[in-house]
Amino acid sequence: MPNGMPDLELDGRVALVTGGSRGIGAAAARWLANAGMRVMVHCHQTRDGAEAVVDAIRAAGGEADLVCADVRKAADVERMVAETVERFGGLQVLVNNAGSMVGRTPIEDIDDAFIDAVFDLNARSVIHATRAATPHLAEHGGAIINVSSISARNGGSPGSSLYSASKAFVSTFTRSMATELAPKNVRVNAISPGTFDTDFHQRYSTAEKLERTRNVIPQKRLGDPEDCAGTFLYLAAGGLSGYVTGQIIEVNGGQLMV
Ligand SMILES: NC(=O)c1ccc[n+]([C@@H]2O[C@H](COP(=O)([O-])OP(=O)(O)OC[C@H]3O[C@@H](n4cnc5c(N)ncnc54)[C@H](OP(=O)(O)O)[C@@H]3O)[C@@H](O)[C@H]2O)c1
Repeated sequence: MPNGMPDLELDGRVALVTGGSRGIGAAAARWLANAGMRVMVHCHQTRDGAEAVVDAIRAAGGEADLVCADVRKAADVERMVAETVERFGGLQVLVNNAGSMVGRTPIEDIDDAFIDAVFDLNARSVIHATRAATPHLAEHGGAIINVSSISARNGGSPGSSLYSASKAFVSTFTRSMATELAPKNVRVNAISPGTFDTDFHQRYSTAEKLERTRNVIPQKRLGDPEDCAGTFLYLAAGGLSGYVTGQIIEVNGGQLMV
């Protein structure tokens, strides 16, 4: 056992955070950079959000840049990973955070276009990014941190069936990849947020629904994006979580205990 803190294995290493332009991803990007990582902040439509994250990191003395890509498209994802490696000289941590419910749609109204939209964004994107990043992560050992959801366990609320199922895919894929990539020295884990106060729920939940949820959470509050950030840090840091892989860590104020 070393004296004092172990080497966290973060300093100078490179992280790519998808959906780093706002919400949970923006907080993850800031915390990873504050811990000494060099961070590629990915955005899709909220470029000004990603710029603000990059500016904040640089103002604090850190190193960051941004890349824009539509993670539903394989070619975009491949370019995003290639640009990260080119800009920073490697990639050690991939955070697959970009995602959305896309819409609250009851089963009667689900059509093929909606199925494609939900699974392309939340499931296919994670497959593409994992495939593109693996050779780089495997080079010196690395970590993938996926973002699942409490709804992967409890099925979500009415109208979120496909989103919830796509996040169940993310959880299962996390475990599969943990087994498959362990020989390459790549750890694969996931964070599963409960109900977080971000644009996500502003768009897909009413104030009344959020208040009802807040009341059943033992800690009596919704999550703040910063509430996930420490778990991202822990899972990224080989010096802390080097023997942890294939785990889905629930971060939800006690909303779901498993
Ligand atoms: N909020 C919650 O309660 C909650 C609970 C469980 C799980 N989650 C999951 O946590 C993750 C982050 O959620 P959040 O609450 O922070 O959501 P958010 O504030 O709505 O942010 C969503 C992020 O995903 C990106 N994104 C959306 N569509 C994209 C596309 N086609 N290509 C590339 N990027 C795209 C957005 O990029 P741009 O803005 O740049 O377009 C944005 O950065 C998601 O995977 C979500 O499913 C959230």
